[in-house]
Amino acid sequence: MTKANESKPLVVGLAGFGTVGGGLARLLGENADIIRRRTGRDMVVKRVLVRNAQKARGVPLPEGAELTTDPAALTDDPDIDVLVELIGGIDQARALIDRALDQGKHVVTANKALLAEEGLALFQKAERKKRILRYEASVAGAIPIVQALRESLTGNRIESLMGILNGTSNYILSEMTSNGLDFDVALKQAQELGYAEADPTLDIDGHDAAHKLILLIRLAYGVNYPYTALSVRGIRGLSSLDIRLAREFGYRIKLIGQVREVRCPEGRDCADDGSIRLEAGVFPALVHHTFLLARVGGVYNAARVEANAAGALFFHGRGAGDLPTAGAVLADLMAVAREERPNNTGFVGRELPRAAIVPPEEWRSCYYVRVMVQDAPGVLRDISGCMAAEGISVAQMIQKTDEGHGVPLVFMTHETSAQAMSDALQRTVDAGLLKEPAVYFRVL
Ligand SMILES: NC(=O)c1ccc[n+]([C@@H]2O[C@H](COP(=O)([O-])OP(=O)(O)OC[C@H]3O[C@@H](n4cnc5c(N)ncnc54)[C@H](OP(=O)(O)O)[C@@H]3O)[C@@H](O)[C@H]2O)c1
Repeated sequence: MTKANESKPLVVGLAGFGTVGGGLARLLGENADIIRRRTGRDMVVKRVLVRNAQKARGVPLPEGAELTTDPAALTDDPDIDVLVELIGGIDQARALIDRALDQGKHVVTANKALLAEEGLALFQKAERKKRILRYEASVAGAIPIVQALRESLTGNRIESLMGILNGTSNYILSEMTSNGLDFDVALKQAQELGYAEADPTLDIDGHDAAHKLILLIRLAYGVNYPYTALSVRGIRGLSSLDIRLAREFGYRIKLIGQVREVRCPEGRDCADDGSIRLEAGVFPALVHHTFLLARVGGVYNAARVEANAAGALFFHGRGAGDLPTAGAVLADLMAVAREERPNNTGFVGRELPRAAIVPPEEWRSCYYVRVMVQDAPGVLRDISGCMAAEGISVAQMIQKTDEGHGVPLVFMTHETSAQAMSDALQRTVDAGLLKEPAVYFRVL
């Protein structure tokens, strides 16, 4: 920190005064002494940007701050050192951050959707302008996974990362598992408790977890993995029957975001820039009940990182909420107060190369497969024949009694490719063996 700034307060422009913005205002007041002792400076919020200035607020504005509805009152005020973007959404948030960087301000944001879908240009601009662009709160709330990947594990090669990155989906799955609720009932309960939005699409269709995974891939591998190239499957409509059957095999169903390095098969030219490709996606999967990830309950988030020097690491904590998220925002602001050198992506250079991607049909995994069939002789043999024809070998099988919709047959397979699994199931459809579409999940 320069001598001149040592006693000068850091002046903040706070965009958004909702859940996280309100939490930040509270923390700036409650933790003022810690902030001063740890950074040597005070933090002062000069203006707070909102959409509706008339709205009643549950949290008082930070002392001395003015409310405004004019974005330029933050971005174009030369007194303001740093913009904190907590309005969410894409277009207005991008315009705000873009303008703030143009005006030479540092930026702290919690906006995963923006950084995942359109972050590249913003990172490039921050690099050009030598400004800090920090986003700890955008992935898994209070869990310091961004800092861990960008700094603590910077000397490691990251071999894989898998996590529970969406608290709403995890709450729904936990309720279905522990209390036997159906999907719709668990979703409604999550909405009543304020864990799910009125429109839960982003959470239950996997997009929120996917946004976070894109940021984690960038931090772990220093590559641009285009959001539109990521394979994303959520938990909408998941049947409580599969939750129950998975339990019988000793598994829990979790919504997982995963990336791992896959070596190019011998003799195959996989990518222009080397032999490592990334297999990444968001999907519901069976996780054995003895794994830590299976025990992550309710709205909690978690991430398991496998790194070549550190080995396995497990992070667990609150992925959302006013104070947990605001604490992560505040840590980023304190880095700005200390005038740390920008290290926004954790990698040097403006251009991050495009990721070499393993197409989803090549992914290899064990599978849980449930089919509903007629109670007739030979059906089990025919289904097994469809699997065998694609080289899939079955490790375990259970058959349940007909409860009116047909007989549930569940197979746990040995490792196979997604393509082989999809071809085998197509064979069962073509042979007219199924009473309803098959349900299948990867087994981790
Ligand atoms: N909530 C969490 O636990 C959590 C966790 C991690 C990350 N995040 C991220 O943090 C960000 C903020 O989330 P939040 O939950 O705090 O949102 P929120 O409660 O909906 O608050 C949004 C705030 O931004 C203001 N705003 C929205 N659009 C605006 C616009 N165009 N111009 C000016 N002000 C605008 C709103 O103003 P009014 O008050 O006048 O309506 C409100 O104060 C999002 O990117 C979210 O993804 C949230």
